[in-house]
Amino acid sequence: MQASGESVQIGDAGAVGAALLSWYDVNARRLPWRTPPGGAGSEAAPDPYRVWLSEVMLQQTTVAAVRAYYARFLELWPTVEALAAAADADVMAAWAGLGYYARARNLLACAREVARRGGFPRDEEGLRELPGLGAYTAAAVAAIAFGERAVVVDANVERVVSRLFAIGEPLPGARAAIRAATDTITPDTRAGDFAQAMMDLGSSICTVRGPRCLLCPLADHCAARAAGTAESYPVKAAKQAKPTRTGTAFWIERGGAVLLVQREGKGMLGGMRALPDDGWSARADGHGTPPIAGEWRTAGMIRHGFTHFDLELQLMLCRSADCASLPPGEFWPVDAVEAAGLPTVFAKAARLALANR
Ligand code: ADE
Repeated sequence: MQASGESVQIGDAGAVGAALLSWYDVNARRLPWRTPPGGAGSEAAPDPYRVWLSEVMLQQTTVAAVRAYYARFLELWPTVEALAAAADADVMAAWAGLGYYARARNLLACAREVARRGGFPRDEEGLRELPGLGAYTAAAVAAIAFGERAVVVDANVERVVSRLFAIGEPLPGARAAIRAATDTITPDTRAGDFAQAMMDLGSSICTVRGPRCLLCPLADHCAARAAGTAESYPVKAAKQAKPTRTGTAFWIERGGAVLLVQREGKGMLGGMRALPDDGWSARADGHGTPPIAGEWRTAGMIRHGFTHFDLELQLMLCRSADCASLPPGEFWPVDAVEAAGLPTVFAKAARLALANR
């Protein structure tokens, strides 16, 4: 197969799907949110709630990181109705540490809409109408939970397909060509198995470095393999260096408890419990001063990488805060701060405080 400019030439597209599905029948990973190959659309069809929940969690997050969160969510909220009825703060706290917190806010909004409608829509178009459900998740749920033909493209699929067709255009511009190429090889039946087979192939054989082409069921169809250039795909546009921001967080302690605030609405880490800070997330740079009078000392600094910037967060401690002027929040027992559901950046700051107070 070969990509020439924008258009993709197809060899035997049907043979690609057939070879991949035969491989998947034997090699499918057993994952907690999956049913065995052949399940979608049959009596053994997976529960759409579980498929949707896992797909939201798996965006930008590894299978290894998702497992424990997925199990915990199902334990707390076994159905979409149960999740819809949950308190916002409980869901945000259960999500803490998984990152990309807008996903948790959208998850709740979506669960409430699905509960209101009495169930998930069964096709991609209907799923796209739900709050926070993007093109990827709608396609994945339609294919995996309902057996609909849908073109599912995640980062693994991007890698496999860009190699299979030797798509030389750099990402992110190549996305349209990759999607079009994926469309040509997606079978009419078992689209969910096909998508998950592509993901498994990408994570176990068609890996970023050192692809194991000798074991690949698609090796005979692969343009990059034929040219001996598999590892050079997908081509990526040169990355911009990430800027570094600076800010300050405040550990305000009183009687064995620390002041935690709830972050504002929809901004960065919105809705999450956090240490008070100087507003670094809305500001370009610099260290702010403490919000209240008191005896302050600096405990050190933590670093945290966000998607678009790295943060250097200075931590200041105060044990004799002027109580009249504290920002609104709750005093949380210091001994139990790990159970407060702090997002990772503030959990790091809390660990620094505990080591230096
Ligand atoms: N990543 C995203 N969705 C996945 C799935 N269903 N199985 C494995 N990895 C995934």
